[in-house]
Amino acid sequence: MVKIALLGHGVVGTGVVKVIKNKADQLFELTGEQIEVKSVLVRHDYDVDYKEKFIYSFDEILNDEEISIVVEAIGGTEPAYRYVKSALLAGKSVVTSNKELVAKHGFELMNIADEKNINFMFEAAVGGAIPVIHGVRNCLKANKVHSIAGILNGTTNYILTKMIDEKQSFDVALKAAQELGYAEADPSADVDGIDTCRKICILADIIYGNHILPENVYTEGIRNVRIEDVDILKLVGGAIKLLGVAKRTEDNKLFIMTAPHVVFNQGILYAANDVFNAAQLETDNAGLMAFYGRGAGSLPTASAVVNDIVECVCADGTIYPAWEDEKPENVADYKDVPMQFYVNVSDKADKVENAFETAEIIYIKESTAFITEKITENRLNEKLKDFTVNSIVRVL
Ligand code: NDP
Ligand code: HSE
Repeated sequence: MVKIALLGHGVVGTGVVKVIKNKADQLFELTGEQIEVKSVLVRHDYDVDYKEKFIYSFDEILNDEEISIVVEAIGGTEPAYRYVKSALLAGKSVVTSNKELVAKHGFELMNIADEKNINFMFEAAVGGAIPVIHGVRNCLKANKVHSIAGILNGTTNYILTKMIDEKQSFDVALKAAQELGYAEADPSADVDGIDTCRKICILADIIYGNHILPENVYTEGIRNVRIEDVDILKLVGGAIKLLGVAKRTEDNKLFIMTAPHVVFNQGILYAANDVFNAAQLETDNAGLMAFYGRGAGSLPTASAVVNDIVECVCADGTIYPAWEDEKPENVADYKDVPMQFYVNVSDKADKVENAFETAEIIYIKESTAFITEKITENRLNEKLKDFTVNSIVRVL
């Protein structure tokens, strides 16, 4: 029998209880063990038929020698960080869905797990149900990953889909995302790109081997996405998606950012709508590949958490070694890295043609919209000095 403690009884926590109960036989077959949720740390009671499991003090879990795995589904960094760190130091493996915690303290927590020969697992922290962390860790050992670009936030993809396809207002779409259990406790973390940033940092930590703190990463959310631009881009098979992007630059620095990007209709990033997430990787041997699935929601997220629990139960010691500590000097200045941009200006097309000889003009009416050749953001801003700019969106 393996006894686990669950911290938090919200969208993810209740999903974990359900999946462990509903899949008891399957989990037994996989692990040879009955997996039991022994305790659930809560702040108040909930109306469920397992109230006897509720406890109100984390110390009870810490001091309970029967509990070998702690599942953290509280969110935020306090008290989650304190609880997770002390559980690991007490020799209990930890599974979490908390990207804020992993993005900030992953390096330290993985090292503690390593020292204790136990596991700190966090598949659900990136991409909800999608096994993207397992994919990049386990399945690309014969590859160098040149780049990764992902729709990593279900709430914002859901909001954009509803605003574009069903003409819902931002507020209505956000409220629905909250009711469906997709949004963060403070939904500005979704809307302002902070959640995506945490997730692309975690993926880059794994792929490129150094801890990258979200505060060192340029981050922009969806508040400034204009439906006019979405409609113009549709004319040329484009869409706007909030992406986390990471890649190596020619001088071996890491380019990493979170921002709305134009994607075109030949790829998975274009096709991923609603709460779905997708991550697209460019690799040397495998070429282009992608991961796709539900990025948020109770049972999809619990599915990833419970998979991690199974791995902890079956593990003989630490499975995944920690990445290295932060090296901020390795992160490139995003304004110096050339890329293409979609630009919408109020100026006439001939002025655009004069200033941007090689740009592709895609729309001429009340405004002029065009896509530049690869250019740095610094240079773009110089060239646009005399224009009335309505919007600029990076092109993947
Ligand atoms: P919820 O807000 O639904 O649940 C959090 C739970 O933690 C609530 O039940 C809350 O209790 C409880 N809690 C908060 N503080 C404490 C505390 N000090 N002691 C005990 N319980 C506490 O959040 P989610 O379940 O949605 O998210 C949990 C984590 O998983 C977050 O890090 C989130 O980012 C991440 N995540 C969420 C996904 C989703 O689809 N929702 C998907 C992937 C990851 P109370 O009822 O009193 O507020
Ligand atoms: N708020 C997050 C999202 C939850 O919408 O993607 C999953 O991490």
